[in-house]
Amino acid sequence: MCGIVGYIGKRNSLPIIIEGLKRLEYRGYDSAGVSIINDKDEIISFKQAGKVNKLEEALDVDKFQGNIGIGHTRWATHGVPNDTNAHPHYDMDKNIMIVHNGIIENYKLIKNRLIEEKYTFTTDTDTEILANLINYHHKNTNDFETAVRLALLEVEGTYGIACLCAKEPDKILVARKGSPLMLGIGNEEILVASDASAIINHTKNVIYLEDGEMAALERGSFHLKTIEDKDIYRNIEVLDFLLDDIEKGGYDHFMLKEICEQPDTIQNTYRGRINFETGVAKLGGLDSIAEKLFKAKRIIITACGTAWHAGLVGEYMLEHYCRIPVEVEYASEFRYRRPIISTDDVVILISQSGETADTLAALREAKKFGATTIGIVNVIGSTIAREVDAGTYVHAGAEIGVASTKAFTCQVMSLALITLMIANEKKTVSHHDLIKLAKELKQIPEKIARMVGMKDSYKEVAMKFKDAKNFLYLGRGFNFPVALEGALKLKEISYIHAEGYPAAEMKHGPIALIDENMPVVFIAPKDRTYDKIISSIMEVKARNGVIIAIASEGDDNINSYSDFVLRVPKTAALFAPIINIIPLQFLSYYIAAARGCNVDQPRNLAKSVTVE
Ligand code: AGP
Repeated sequence: MCGIVGYIGKRNSLPIIIEGLKRLEYRGYDSAGVSIINDKDEIISFKQAGKVNKLEEALDVDKFQGNIGIGHTRWATHGVPNDTNAHPHYDMDKNIMIVHNGIIENYKLIKNRLIEEKYTFTTDTDTEILANLINYHHKNTNDFETAVRLALLEVEGTYGIACLCAKEPDKILVARKGSPLMLGIGNEEILVASDASAIINHTKNVIYLEDGEMAALERGSFHLKTIEDKDIYRNIEVLDFLLDDIEKGGYDHFMLKEICEQPDTIQNTYRGRINFETGVAKLGGLDSIAEKLFKAKRIIITACGTAWHAGLVGEYMLEHYCRIPVEVEYASEFRYRRPIISTDDVVILISQSGETADTLAALREAKKFGATTIGIVNVIGSTIAREVDAGTYVHAGAEIGVASTKAFTCQVMSLALITLMIANEKKTVSHHDLIKLAKELKQIPEKIARMVGMKDSYKEVAMKFKDAKNFLYLGRGFNFPVALEGALKLKEISYIHAEGYPAAEMKHGPIALIDENMPVVFIAPKDRTYDKIISSIMEVKARNGVIIAIASEGDDNINSYSDFVLRVPKTAALFAPIINIIPLQFLSYYIAAARGCNVDQPRNLAKSVTVE
């Protein structure tokens, strides 16, 4: 949520910062700004509402020359997204310039205190208050680093910050608490960014800041410490992805690219983790807690949004195949309802970014009660990945489109692997069936590839519904979470109102909405709920609803009940959500694209939600 990038070195900083901001824009994009220290050691700044492209066009490039600078792309929390509230923010004396991700929770208290000290404010942001607080301490200490440290010691809430000081124009100070920040260590230059995509073009050598840590960056050197003033020494880590991974590669949108990548990403999730001869799955990252997992009395899965939908699939899988009771919780609700957690529980946290504030808070809550925690995370080195007791990376690669697609299928595949691993240990699935499931698993990439090849047929149907106002998505069993996820995909990128329900629940309310203007997507593969789904289809048909069926290849029976049919290959129940979500991802993508929506950066959303 929001993106920060900064540069200090020998090169002109502006192009590096602008390029970084463009790569970070998927994190937040309602306004953007930069501050540069020029060759006269002055801080010059420009910011405005709108996207980074607009900022770039409006900037006077000749004026913005200098080899120290910071930039920000914003997702508004405090204050509407306008030019004034855009970052960077000055203090009242124009001494401190700051970019900030996160929320200063005690900003009112600090503001009132500063007002008593005759400080004045021009924006609605909590960030401006922090800039003034740093300035206040700078006046008292005459030392930039100490001033930042003392200010942060007073702050409650979350922050990732980068700041400049007019009186000490040869450094950038950065700090983190609850909002990711990393240093990129180059050749006589240091970069700072809220995620690796802004750095990867310049260096692969990175240092992740931990909560409560800060760093002073100078040309070619840096110094890490805690905000309590203890020095820190940390090894450099090497990023293992390529620039190509975060480029569009000829596709119109990242989302389309990411949907089409799924044959590969799914394979990356299971590669080396399953023996196809024996059907035995093994996730190395879970070795240290495997016994706890096998003996767990209960598994709690917690996550947000799409990852929560993956968690729901996990509930169906683990209860069906492993006979372990599972609860699935919205991470945002988890700790607010005084959950009963015991040391025998295993809590699984699912997160693409590994930075979602609510999921991270749920993780910390679970640890407080002594539960064993497992992360299913995509972003390597992210906070959740580092704080869990054990975990498995889904290896979906960088997901840039705000609407999650490949991360979802990889999360579900990870849960399937965990299911197979437990089922083998607990012998809740026979040896014979495990081998059958493993054989089926091996075919999933090829089946997804077939659907990617059929994308034009999905597009054709999508075109008929580009002007729809509402959509219903219905599914049963393993496909109920698919209905929820299909509806979320559509609403978040096309702004069409869409709801997902368990198909049988339709009769208890949503059926009132059915008329000739209501498209209803039924996830209706040939499985054990098929006959019941057909009954629900008939009920919608009887009320003139328009039926779009996601149906198995070779199921001709369904044609007579449906207005449109999107075909999917047959698979085992365990993998059905991975297969059946694919046409729904295409459907929402093509509808949104046809409506001219900004598919990769839908309004009001951000890729990683690092505020609670
Ligand atoms: C889904 O398309 C959204 N991007 C959103 O629901 C997302 O899944 C949610 O914010 C959780 O993010 P995470 O996986 O990074 O924790």
